Amino acid sequence: SAQDAAKGEAVFKQCQTCHRADKNMVGPALGGVIGRKTGTAAGFSYSPLNHAAGEAGLVWSQENVVEYLADPNAFLKKFLTDKGQADKATGSTKMTFKLANEQQRKDVAAYLATLK
Ligand code: HEM
Repeated sequence: SAQDAAKGEAVFKQCQTCHRADKNMVGPALGGVIGRKTGTAAGFSYSPLNHAAGEAGLVWSQENVVEYLADPNAFLKKFLTDKGQADKATGSTKMTFKLANEQQRKDVAAYLATLK
């Protein structure tokens, strides 16, 4: 069903172990992440895998965040492989968290789009 940013705000509590909108913690700041090139939060030290996906052209959208959150490692490796950069689809993302529930992924993606 539809994406619900208000429900996504509740889902985002799980993300706040590692993320804030406005500052880097264990994970990068997520304010403005929708529409942002992957791996470019100022001052955050990304994994080579996450960084390479941005260099290969990955820009976060609500749609691809829904897919990413199901399995971040697999998503980044598939993106690079599909771009003909399988040589860079190695190692692991530092984001070990996965969100299995698709409705929750849609809702939290809608919430991310409200974060400035
Ligand atoms: C990266 C979203 C939960 C740790 C990212 C990125 C997004 C994201 C979109 C890529 C950012 C970028 O390229 O600038 C979320 C959401 C979560 C969540 C929506 C909850 C549903 C978590 C949790 C942790 C975590 C719980 C820690 C246990 C990280 C780390 C990175 C990252 C360390 C950097 C990955 C790397 O450099 O390879 N997250 N995250 N995240 N996240 Fe999360």
